[in-house]
This record gives sequence, structure tokens and C-alpha cells, in this order.
Amino acid sequence: MTVNNSPAWQALSAHANKVREKHLTEMFAEDSERYDKFSFRAAHCLTDFSKQRITSTTLQLLIDLAEQQKLPQRIEALFSGEKVNLSENRPALHTALRQPADQPLLVEGVDISEEIHASLEKMETLVDQIHNGQWRGYDGSPIKNVVNIGVGGSDLGPLMTCRALSMFAPEHIRDIDIHFVSSMDGSHLAGLLTHIDPASTLFIVSSKSFSTIDTLANANTAREWLVDTSGLPLELISQHHFIGITASPEKAADWGIPEKNQLHFWDWTGGRYSMWSVIGMAIALQIGNKNFRQMLAGAHQMDTHFRSAPPAENLPVLMAMIGIWNINFLDIHAHAVLPYDGRLEHVPAYLEQLEMESNGKSVTLNGEKLNYATCPILWGEVGPNAQHAFYQLLHQGTESVMCDFIAPALRYQDQGEDLQAQHQLALANCLAQSRLLALGDSVLDDADTAPAHKRYRGNQPSTTIMFDTLSPASFGALIAMYEHKVYVQSVIWEINPFDQWGVELGKQVATSLLDQFTEQTSSATDSSTEGLIRYVQQQRRE
Ligand code: F6P
Repeated sequence: MTVNNSPAWQALSAHANKVREKHLTEMFAEDSERYDKFSFRAAHCLTDFSKQRITSTTLQLLIDLAEQQKLPQRIEALFSGEKVNLSENRPALHTALRQPADQPLLVEGVDISEEIHASLEKMETLVDQIHNGQWRGYDGSPIKNVVNIGVGGSDLGPLMTCRALSMFAPEHIRDIDIHFVSSMDGSHLAGLLTHIDPASTLFIVSSKSFSTIDTLANANTAREWLVDTSGLPLELISQHHFIGITASPEKAADWGIPEKNQLHFWDWTGGRYSMWSVIGMAIALQIGNKNFRQMLAGAHQMDTHFRSAPPAENLPVLMAMIGIWNINFLDIHAHAVLPYDGRLEHVPAYLEQLEMESNGKSVTLNGEKLNYATCPILWGEVGPNAQHAFYQLLHQGTESVMCDFIAPALRYQDQGEDLQAQHQLALANCLAQSRLLALGDSVLDDADTAPAHKRYRGNQPSTTIMFDTLSPASFGALIAMYEHKVYVQSVIWEINPFDQWGVELGKQVATSLLDQFTEQTSSATDSSTEGLIRYVQQQRRE
């Protein structure tokens, strides 16, 4: 039986027929305690679901569905290292990466906790050497610029976190700049190479597979630049200027990264779940080893909550189940992520990969085609900027969109910045927008008299996620909460969130087309592809 034919799903469908008729305005009018009923706190975070189109019955029925799908057992399977990634026959143990060293974790008889902490310690030693100026470039210069070359999970998590937490950089490491280069066409790198000094630049080549063409193309360009500008042999350049972070050490060695400059992680760490591993080296370089550990501790706090709290109080479970309600029962297939804090500007891009690469699936774990919706289209932007861009559609367009508003409650005066007044301005806007999206122009006394083009229909559901203040720990907890939300949804939809076969074929087809650009050959494809290749070739000749 497929999940959408199951009793719990059918009960939700019947319930949805009633709730769909209700506007959030009515729900708030009928129950003045919605906030108290539907907001929950754990591990630094507060999630307010009261502006979701739910009732207490909805939540109970969603929990019934979670239990029917054996969610508690599936959560335990994740944490205990069962092979939850069926298509690749391996566990998904990102939670182990943030487990304290004194908690062993046996997977197939091996305590992976020891390996994890040994790898972290090697990273910390390298980070200290770079911070202390002990790591030197080819002419003895200390490192001033670090460039992380990676893409997808080997870029988005470290980039997001470095930008979110840069203010936590301890004084003594402030004069190292961290850069991120990911674009396959080399534009990011080319722009950077014009204004950094080769002798004081260190490249971190981050790639789980060490075979991603985007990353290797950029790494090759960086290495040629160093060899050309220094006039030194490749081997010497690799020793002083390249660190490789990978789960494929042989490939990193083949490329030329010496063993002492390699940091390893494991195939059981999914790329988009890897910022907690040594892939996070750029983060540790930006905020220091101590703060990196605090970020892991914050994520671990969320893990502990997720693993132990009952579903009715479990933040990631509730977030996931309310998402399911919106997608599968209210037919909402667009999800906007709206941080009201400029430091969180890369969170939407990170969540795009986390959610859509994980749950953008249409076959079950057993390979059967699904006949219900899975991951919605997710996008986002810093909220106040998005207000001047796409909020028009949220308020008056024809699409239903669910939104996540994300903001810290407090912004402390720190390191010379005093943004409390501006932070309050942002918070006022955050709450104004979620209020208006929920209640529409009923917030006004005389809305009825306004012409149609000025009306706001409301009833757009949103969750507001707040945390005490932005810190390494609260940030770790926030990101872990989203990871677990994604897992819970995959359990309900009976899909594998840990593979990404949908990105493979494009790589193969691109490889076969590349010859036609480089060698000006042609082979039969389709009239559009052939026409476009011909156009490029003609431009070259003209
Ligand atoms: O092509 C998709 C993908 O495999 C992502 O899942 C991954 O995060 C990214 O490419 C980068 O992969 P790697 O770290 O192996 O270079």
C-alpha cells in the first residue's frame, strides 16, 4: 500500500477538506491562544507555527501519520548508523560528526568516533599553523588569503557559515581573508587572482569525490597561476599552497596533494551534510577552532532534541510534518526562505541544495513511481531585500507559497558594531510581513472600501523561526534542525534523501558535448543542441 492510500493519509485528506475552507483570520479570531498552542522551543530555537493553516486536530493527525510511517524507528536507524542510503548501500552519519568525543559510536564493529575526532584534530592543527603564521608560502610569507575551491556541498555550507559567523573571528585571525570559488567557467577565480598575492595565498581544494570537473578545473587554473607567477616546480607549489579535503584520498594524491596536506572524511557523509566534517576547514579558519566546536555542539543539542523529544514537541518533526500538510494536503508547492538578518544571506542557497537535492525525488526507496508530491520548489533571499523584489507575488499573486521567516531575537553590540536599532527595524518588518501574509488586509478597519488592486488576500502560511542570538551554537542548531526536517519528510514520502542520481546524466552528456567545442567536431544530437553548437562555432570563426 502506498502512503497516500494509508489510513493516516486518508484521515488527513478528509480533515483538509474542512480546513481548506478556513482563512487564517478565522483561525486567529476563534482561538486567542494560537501562539501558545503552536509555538515550541528547544536547543536555542523557537518555532512559531501559529500562522500555519493548522488546528490541534491537524497536528494530531500529522503525528498519527508520522507514527504510522514508523518515524521513531527511522530516526533511531539514522543515528545508529543503519544503511539508510539504500541506493548507495551506506549509512548517513552526519550526526556522528558532531557527537562529543566521549560518546563512542560503533558502526560494523568500528568506533567511528575515534576516526572523526582524529580527523578534526588534524584539521585544527593545520588551522592553528595557518593562524599562527607557521604555515608559509613558497617565499616564506605567512598566509593572508585562503581560497576554498569546491561546489555544492563542498562550497555552500562553508560559504554560508563563514558569512553568517564572520563577526566571531578572534582578533588574531582577522587579517586572513577567506574566499570561495565555485563557478565552473572560472569567473570567480579569475576575478580573485587579479588582486591576491600568490606567495601568501593558500588554496583548499574541497571535494568529496575529488573528481568534480568544476572543482578540478578551478584547481588546475589556480595551480597553473602559482607555477607561472612563482616560476617554481609544481611539487613545491603543491606542498606550500594546496590542501585537499576529500573522501577519495587516492584521487587527491593523484592530482598532486601530498598526504600531509590532506584531510579526510568518509563516504557516509553526504556532500550536502558535510560542513560539520573537515569540509568545514574554511569555517574554522574564519571563526577559530573553538567556535567551530561550539557550532558542532549546537548542532548536537538539536540532534539530542530530535532523537529524544516526543513528536508533538519535536521541532524538526513538526516543521517537516507541517510542510507535508502544506504540500500534500493544501497543494502548496512553493517555499520561500526569508532570513531577516543580512548575515544569513547564503542560508536560502544552502537550503536549496539541502532540501531539493535530498528530496527532489519521484520514486520510492523500492524504486516504485510515486503518485504524490515531494519536495516543493524552494528559494529565498534576505527578507527585507525580497520585500522589494518578489513579495508582491506573495501578497497579491495567484500562487500559494509557504514561507519560513528566520531571525535572531537579539543582536548584541559586539566588536564595534551597534546595529540594535537597525535590527529592531528588520524585526518589525519581519513580523509585519508574516502578519500581513496570514491575515491579509483584515488588519485594516476599512479594507472593504479599497479597490481590488489594493486588496491583500492573506491566508499564506508561514513559520517564524527565531533563536536567542546568532552564535556558532545557535547557528549549528538551526542548520541541524533543517537537516532533520528533510529526513523526516523523506521518511513520510518513503524516498531516499541521501542520493542524487538526478545530477549524474548531465555530467555525462556534457563530457560528450565538450569535444564538439574543443575539437570543432560534430555528432548527432538533436536539432536544438546542434544549432546552438553551430552558432558558437560560427562566432569563433567570424
Ligand atoms: O553534482 C552534485 C554533487 O555531487 C553534490 O551532491 C555535491 O555536494 C557536489 O556535487 C560536489 O561534489 P564533490 O564534493 O564530490 O566535489
